[in-house]
Amino acid sequence: MLRQALRPVCARATPVLAPAARIWGPSGSVALRKGEQARKYSSETESRSRNIRKGQADSISAVIHHDHREIERYYEKIINSRDHAVQRKYQNAFVWELTRHSIAEEIVVYPSIETGLNRGHEMAEKDRAEHQLTKEQLYKLQNLHPGDAAFLPTLEHLMKDLKMHIKEEEEHDLVKLEEAILPMRSQHLAQQFEMTKSFTPTRSHPSAPNKPPFETAVGLMTAPLDKIRDLFRDWPDEAGAKPPAGGAGR
Ligand SMILES: [Fe+2]
Repeated sequence: MLRQALRPVCARATPVLAPAARIWGPSGSVALRKGEQARKYSSETESRSRNIRKGQADSISAVIHHDHREIERYYEKIINSRDHAVQRKYQNAFVWELTRHSIAEEIVVYPSIETGLNRGHEMAEKDRAEHQLTKEQLYKLQNLHPGDAAFLPTLEHLMKDLKMHIKEEEEHDLVKLEEAILPMRSQHLAQQFEMTKSFTPTRSHPSAPNKPPFETAVGLMTAPLDKIRDLFRDWPDEAGAKPPAGGAGR
């Protein structure tokens, strides 16, 4: 009842839809041209990113969906380019985004699922096991160069598993979590999630623990070294696609 009463006031979340669905009005009758679609999607993404950076995240689902779209976008950039320098920049962005996203989920989201949902422990353990596989594949990917024969097959393998994990999270785990918590709690989790992402390591460390409190401590220990090395990596020349410690886009 309380949740119902609070929802109109607190829930500022707009439904996060696939980019193609987001550009259609309710009637679905107005077709926007391709360039307009891309501009609209990019301005929506930028506006959501700005809100997230300002700590005005709508809900935990919204920030996680946003990250998933960014990870998919970096993947698309890599596979759609034949230029190794461009692929290298987006490889670094992909590793950075997926690493901090996974760790923030493990520190902020999975404990909430574990304690707040029926069969939450089972769900969280399954998610952690899937993350472990992703981290191992990511570790392999981050040590490859786009010119290596194993580079694209490793990325494709990682992405195939990751897409299934993303689908389960978006269509099941996060839906159950949002149903179980108040909108204000969801917004608070979103803020914690964004804050956590700022102190995580920026590269995959599959042997690190994947549960708080140890993951938090290890994250704090390994992050500075990753961040020093980020200075010497190549990054895409676009806002939000590199860590604050990353060198200039080249
Ligand atoms: Fe995720």
